[in-house]
Amino acid sequence: MTDALEESVAALAERLAAASRITVLTGAGVSAASGVPTYRGSGGLWRGRRAEDIATPEAFAADPGSVWAWYDERRAEIARCVPNRAHEVLATWSRRPGFRLVTQNVDGLHERAGTEGVIRFHGSIWDVGCWDRCAASPRRWRDDTVPFPELPPPCPHCGGPLRPGVVWFGEVIPGDAIERAVAATACDVFLVVGTSAQVHPAAGLAVEAARSGAFTAEVNPDATALSAALDLVLPGPAEEVLDRVDRALADR
Ligand code: APR
Repeated sequence: MTDALEESVAALAERLAAASRITVLTGAGVSAASGVPTYRGSGGLWRGRRAEDIATPEAFAADPGSVWAWYDERRAEIARCVPNRAHEVLATWSRRPGFRLVTQNVDGLHERAGTEGVIRFHGSIWDVGCWDRCAASPRRWRDDTVPFPELPPPCPHCGGPLRPGVVWFGEVIPGDAIERAVAATACDVFLVVGTSAQVHPAAGLAVEAARSGAFTAEVNPDATALSAALDLVLPGPAEEVLDRVDRALADR
């Protein structure tokens, strides 16, 4: 780790130690070390595919079977992944009063690492819902079946097709997630970890936090659309940098 990065680690640890309200926003990069592919990086899920052909209501309406084939395969992949050191550090920090975690990820690895109260901005790949929103079904519920015996899986209430419980492009973020995430921008430190910050409204939360006076920082091996607007940038992988910050906190 370079001296400059060590200094940034120390600076972030100092800010976190003094903070009573910490909010962390995560993206696919925090799960990269667990083997969950990112979307836009090399080998990313949207590389060579158009997200619009998979992650939209229109794509599902046109061909629910092939959209489910993609999600069923991802669920099987993610079921084989385990949380990495970045998830573990954030789970430890989540036990501090005033800590909130907003994730764009749908893989459930923050919860599996022990983080409670995760604000899931884009839903969960482990949730399903009735595509026809039949009256007998809740909006979303958990179904861990891997693989589904038939695609699309049938709604147990009406027999129509189920849909993945994720937020697709063009869909609105669930109201409770938006409210909780915007409330979480009122904090002392807002830390962005592992997102290219290209998808709104998630990417705008950091700017909102800065506006409300938060100290803002980013952990990412690459520069992002947010980097220039933040107070501190730590250029490195989350599983290493967060581990170093956690150790610097323990050494204080
Ligand atoms: N540690 C930290 N960051 C990393 C690591 C790592 N080990 N590896 C990669 N990254 C960074 C990349 O540099 C990139 O900036 O993670 C980011 C991943 O960006 P994307 O693939 O665009 O994923 P994300 O920002 O989460 O996408 C946001 O877009 O497709 C939609 O709904 C989907 O939630 C997703 C949203």
